[in-house]
Amino acid sequence: MKINIVEISKNKDFDLEIVLVNNLNQIECEKDREILENLEFKVKDEMAVLLAQSKKIYASFEEFSYDSLAIAMATAIKRFNSTKYKSVKLLLNSSLKDNFKALVEGAILGSYSFDNYKSEKEIKKQELAFVVEDKDSQLTTILKESQTICEAVNSARDMVNTAPADFTPKSFVKEAQSIAKEFELDCEILGEKDLEKQKMMSMHSVGRASIHESQLIHLKYKPKKAIKKVVLVGKGLTYDSGGLSLKPADFMITMKADKSGGVAVLNTIKVIAKLKLPIEVHAIIGAVENMIGGNAYKPDDILRAKNGKTIEVRNTDAEGRLVLADCLCYAQDEIKNIDYLLDFATLTGACVVGLGEYTTGIMGNSEELKHQALVSAQNSGEYATKLDFNRYLKKCIKSEIADVCNISNTRYGGAITAGMFLDNFIYEENKNRWIHFDIAGPAFVEKAWGYNPYGASGTGVRMAVQFIKDLTKL
Ligand code: BES
Ligand code: ZN
Ligand code: ZN
Repeated sequence: MKINIVEISKNKDFDLEIVLVNNLNQIECEKDREILENLEFKVKDEMAVLLAQSKKIYASFEEFSYDSLAIAMATAIKRFNSTKYKSVKLLLNSSLKDNFKALVEGAILGSYSFDNYKSEKEIKKQELAFVVEDKDSQLTTILKESQTICEAVNSARDMVNTAPADFTPKSFVKEAQSIAKEFELDCEILGEKDLEKQKMMSMHSVGRASIHESQLIHLKYKPKKAIKKVVLVGKGLTYDSGGLSLKPADFMITMKADKSGGVAVLNTIKVIAKLKLPIEVHAIIGAVENMIGGNAYKPDDILRAKNGKTIEVRNTDAEGRLVLADCLCYAQDEIKNIDYLLDFATLTGACVVGLGEYTTGIMGNSEELKHQALVSAQNSGEYATKLDFNRYLKKCIKSEIADVCNISNTRYGGAITAGMFLDNFIYEENKNRWIHFDIAGPAFVEKAWGYNPYGASGTGVRMAVQFIKDLTKL
């Protein structure tokens, strides 16, 4: 969808107009108001009506907030997309101008659809114009930035939605290399032999039974005058069958989305490079497929991670933390003087149970940094909340025969014990620089909500970009 800002004096013609209302009395056209009242049009999020004769789409919103306006815009655009009209405008008054970011992002995120596997494709050649009294350079800046971010979110959605046979660890490598080429980034790739050489047997073991070779990807964006150094690490399980601790059939469906963390960091570094932000950013992805087979790793195995710690495997379905353990060590061995180390992972079902399907869990050792991450997440439009570590949950991952166990000895608190497992692979100097984001809940949408259609949501991209953007303002 093309999005433009157009001056009112240019007097261009558009097929339709979107009118956003949060009070029916504000509807200027009396006839329209009467029809809308008869149609039981209410001030309620996710309500939009097309009045064909007046060529207007009325969409209501409950309050002047990011969510309400983004949802209203998404609802209006979806209505527009299901017509044969080609262009639509929206007049920006001053209160809408103040919420311009929400309007743009709602429109782009809300009009996303994934039809790569459908024989009949949706036609996508429509134009949205925001009509303003006078040209405003601030609006142009917001538009460009939001477009860059939301296009990356949609590209993340495409990757995650792609079937596991079509998006393998090697596909991750291809995508990374194409980003590296476009923005002239360094890109390092480690295959299984390299993992063995570097003694990353925790990650190596998880992918052993797959026909697709595991890949560790390291992308580097190094601007000349960087003011901070951020390292992003992502869980990129292109499929999680559970391994020998096989998932029940119903739980296996949607596990193509277990690569969401890796996909998020890949698309985040793309945005940062495109916006040319003065922050050094590294993206490290553990791209692995967790399968069964004669050479699969198994419960009772003891694995040694890159930092020398031994891990007792009691469940091969708790594989994400095994992959991240080595990726986190690799990150800290390769990159010195890290300011922020952030990992993104669809790590635990427990996080979904605890927080619901909309919210990311934020974990780490530093109260201050968790707060900083939470504020950035909230400013980005994503939902997140803090989950605190404690000394008792730490004991739940003790092992009788190794340094640590890959699952907890209790049914409760599984999101936090997984986070505390990862803490074993955070070096002393980085303890207070690390944040773990468990995105298992919001990464995949089984029932559409807000501006998220069915399928991958692209969770993590907006949050990570906002966190990095906020560093430029510190
Ligand atoms: N990829 C799953 C976590 C997950 C579950 C993500 C549901 C999205 C939706 C992870 O690898 C896993 O299977 N975790 C296990 C851990 C358990 C064996 C300790 C889980 O959460 O059940
Ligand atoms: Zn698993
Ligand atoms: Zn997993």
